[in-house]
This record gives sequence, structure tokens and C-alpha cells, in this order.
Amino acid sequence: MQAVGKVMKVFITRRVPPEGMKILSAAGACEVSQWDSDEPVPRTELLKGVQGAHGLLCLLSDKIDAEVLDAAGPNLKVISTMSVGFDHMALDEIKKRGIRVGYTPDVLTDATAELTVALLLATARRLPEGVEEVKNGGWSSWKPLWLCGYGLSGSTVGVIGLGRIGLAIAQRLMPFGVKRLLYTGRTAKAQAAEVNGEFVPLDTLVSESDFIVVSCSLTPETQGLCDKAFFSKMKNTAVFINSSRGAVVNQEDLYQALTSGQIAAAGLDVTTPEPLPTDHPLLTLKNCVVLPHIGSATYSTRGIMSALAARNLLGGLQGTDMPSELTF
Ligand code: NDP
Ligand code: DGY
Repeated sequence: MQAVGKVMKVFITRRVPPEGMKILSAAGACEVSQWDSDEPVPRTELLKGVQGAHGLLCLLSDKIDAEVLDAAGPNLKVISTMSVGFDHMALDEIKKRGIRVGYTPDVLTDATAELTVALLLATARRLPEGVEEVKNGGWSSWKPLWLCGYGLSGSTVGVIGLGRIGLAIAQRLMPFGVKRLLYTGRTAKAQAAEVNGEFVPLDTLVSESDFIVVSCSLTPETQGLCDKAFFSKMKNTAVFINSSRGAVVNQEDLYQALTSGQIAAAGLDVTTPEPLPTDHPLLTLKNCVVLPHIGSATYSTRGIMSALAARNLLGGLQGTDMPSELTF
């Protein structure tokens, strides 16, 4: 692959699964440099590495803003993120510069929905507490009310954001005997019929749900959506689950809601910041289950995400179709 008279330069911000690297090397004369580590690229190295690049393959932990785009300079034609979320990228600045963006929708939907269901069940049925009690000797006998939690059968589930992942979560939850499936979003969805979904105002969803699952994208409207007012409308017996982005939740307000008994429990796959500091107050609570952002973490999904990110990058470099181009 040649730019007029010169080789296309690509910078990759992390070690990524081999599926993507194989596709890039098979494509030929694309000169790849990479932050060859499992840890995030330091900002100074990112700004250095991207200089003169025609293509950038990044992750959700890399903030792609005007400073990075300026450091890259006018060669930059394409940014391919190995994620479906794109809230880490300054799309207005990217658009101004006419740069194309690739992302990885669909291929991680099943894995993320599966993990969200696992997190919901683990939180509602208090699995981490139970495991701990077995290990620390707290298991003295079978006791009628010990480690009781909440079940899905006959419940009302509210999904905030019935997009690709929200719908896949709802499809997996319905067979547990869920009675009503409520959802919110900017628009009602035809595919909601598959899960008998009722499009309701946010307040209705919050006050009537036994389980609330957040699966919307992070936008200026959803930032801080789950705050004190939100938690104060939830049932005392309700369970809150977030597998979208940490910034959708006001964590101080969540902490208050969990410690005051305003809500029963919370399960979070995403937090602010990531990683959550080990001395964070939420981590002291038995009724809060925190996972390290592993929604899409199956070997096959990550391999497919890496391959799709590589194909998107090549499409952008070659000026051809990308398998998954973000329109913005
Ligand atoms: P989609 O674009 O298919 O879905 C996003 C949904 O968010 C849409 O249904 C949209 O509804 C909804 N939404 C947007 N604004 C609002 C709002 N103001 N109130 C309620 N809902 C709103 O994306 P995906 O389902 O593929 O992914 C969703 C998000 O999940 C990603 O953006 C990412 O942040 C997160 N994610 C997390 C993972 C993890 O590892 N934990 C893995 C993968 C994704 P409408 O169409 O009506 O606007
Ligand atoms: C994404 O893709 O946006 C997830 O958060 C990680 O897979």
C-alpha cells in the first residue's frame, strides 16, 4: 500500500490480538509502529508515535482529542478504534479534519450481553458474598434468610438504551420469567416487539423496575443520568446494573443510595475512573459488585474485534469501504 511516493504509516496504541496484526501484515507495504505493551501508551509516547501517521488504531482508553490530531498532522486519514464505544474520541475535531472513523459494533454484542446477565445474577443473588463466606468460615449452616437476594421470575426489568447490546440483554433475560420489560431511549424501537418491550418515560422505568440495566452510549445527555434524583425514585428492593460507561453514573450518589438502603444492590462493569482506585468507597460495600470492564472479554470476541479494527483501518487507508465505518 503506497501513498503518493511514500509508504503509509500506521500507529497502533497497544498490543492487540494477533488476528488484526496478521491482516495488517498480509496487506503489504503498510509500515506499522506500535506501543508494544499490554499497558496503555503514555500520552507523550502517543503524541510521538502518531506523528506523520496515515492511520491510527486505538483503544477506548486512548483519549483522541485535538492535541493528538495536531500531533499526527495532515497525513492522518483514518482512526480505527477497537471498541464499539466512541466517547473517547473528539468527533467534532475529527470531522473538521475530514478523518474517517472505524469501530467494532455487533461483533461484541453477544459477549457483552452475556457478561451483563452474569453481573446481574451475581449481584442480585449475592454470589461474591457467598463465595467469600465459604472461604472465610462464615458458612455455619443452612439458614432461612441468610444470603437471600432477588430473583428475575415475575419481575419488571428496565433497560436504559435498547440498542444492539440492550436488546441482546433483554432477549437473554426474558426466558428467566421476566413479566414486564420496560425501556427508554430517544426513540421507540421496532425490534422491542421481540421482547414485548414497553417504551416508557425514564421516571416510569426507574420507579417501576425491579432491575435497571444501563446499556446506552455515553453522550452529553446520558452523562450523570443516574444521579441522586434517579436513585431516589428506585424501589428499595431494586438492583442497578451498568455495563455502558462509568460516567453515566454519579458514583457519590450511587454510594449514598447503596449505604442508605435506598436501593438494594449495584453491579458495575464500568466505572470512573478506570481502574477504580482500590481504596474507593464503593469497593467497601458488600452490596456493590465491581468488575474491571470485561464486557467483551472472550478470546474469540477480542480476536474478531482486532480483525475488524484492522480491516477498518485498511479501508480508510485505501480510501475504500470500511466494514464498520462510523457515520457522524
Ligand atoms: P447502540 O448504539 O446500538 O445502542 C446505544 C443505545 O443508547 C441506543 O439504543 C440509544 O437509543 C441509547 N441512547 C442514546 N441516548 C440515550 C438517552 N439519552 N437515553 C437513553 N438511551 C439513550 O450501541 P451498543 O448497544 O452497541 O453499545 C452501547 C454501549 O455499550 C457502547 O456505547 C459502550 O459504551 C458500551 N459497551 C460496553 C462494553 C463493556 O465492556 N462493558 C462492551 C461494549 C459496549 P436511541 O437509538 O433511541 O438514541
Ligand atoms: C466497547 O467496545 O466500547 C467496550 O467498552 C469494550 O469492548
